Amino acid sequence: MKGIILAGGTGSRLWPITHATSKQLLPVWDKPMVFYPLSTLMLAGIRDILIITAKGQTDAFAGLLGDGKQFGINLTYAEQDAPNGIAEALLIGREFLNGEPCALILGDNLFHGDSLGERLRGAAKRHTGATVFVHAVRDPERYGVMAFDPDGQPLDIIEKPSNPPSNLAVTGLYFFDASAPDRVADLVPSARGELEITDLNRSYLEDRELTVEMLGRGCAWLDTGTPASLLQAAQFVYSVEERQGLKIGSPEETAWRLGWIDRDALTRSAGFSAASDYGRYLNDMANSPDVSPPSFGMVLSSDRAELFFNSQPQEMTRRAGHD
Ligand code: DAU
Repeated sequence: MKGIILAGGTGSRLWPITHATSKQLLPVWDKPMVFYPLSTLMLAGIRDILIITAKGQTDAFAGLLGDGKQFGINLTYAEQDAPNGIAEALLIGREFLNGEPCALILGDNLFHGDSLGERLRGAAKRHTGATVFVHAVRDPERYGVMAFDPDGQPLDIIEKPSNPPSNLAVTGLYFFDASAPDRVADLVPSARGELEITDLNRSYLEDRELTVEMLGRGCAWLDTGTPASLLQAAQFVYSVEERQGLKIGSPEETAWRLGWIDRDALTRSAGFSAASDYGRYLNDMANSPDVSPPSFGMVLSSDRAELFFNSQPQEMTRRAGHD
């Protein structure tokens, strides 16, 4: 499966911060925003990823991420001329996808939680239809919202409803089969002039080919479109990292725990940021004798990513066969 990160848009709700730089390059606590969706796609097992930026922004992203070799992945870049809608990513990426299914993630969405890797890899295994993830929010009118019938079956998706039919927002992570670019080609731009991702998802729903997965309260989903939500995301990452001593959204760490890079590559990455806490974190990892998180002090031979990302102690001990 291939992956697309949509990192365009004008970031107008963050002006003047985004006047001369891309929103997805702004920091969320200790790392650039795009690291988080990138790590999420990697966690889903995806190694071939297209990053779509706003016009003229490719160099800035490529300067940060390069060809992805340092993360054991393959990165390519494309530009979106204007913010014509999220679904346009599938048209821009059509050649890159070359008839394969894909995961599309918004460059300003941050996911974190127990069993997330397992859930994502489950979705990646479905090669027909589409999968979306819904999450409870206090302000559903800001999002695409899922409506359910009396039996709890998905009925419709409504973009930014003034009367939300539920509190379950559709998050910015979508898994699509190979038919997605053709479906987008048939879409008509909405009243706001955009090819709506909600219309694409609705086309799968109408064909009974949409899987809706619920991310429970053990999962965090944050977006970062306004100064307040950017600060909240930074505070969330800061709090968890400070408490656990483990980082969220590090592509180097994800690659290392998945076995996609070797110790030398990790050491090289650490060297680039040696003066920072992030660099020291990578360096400590590279010098640690095993790939499991230091806080648990145990080695598991299988599924190293699961070991790291399912960071709930009880789950860890059960998997490791300890009581
Ligand atoms: O965050 C999840 C929500 O994302 C979904 O619940 C909605 O269904 C979906 O429409 C979208 O809503 P937003 O109002 O957050 O979309 P926004 O226009 O802010 O775009 C989200 C990100 O995608 C943002 O970082 C900019 C980028 N983007 C957006 C458009 C429309 C692009 O790169 N190109 C675009 O053409």
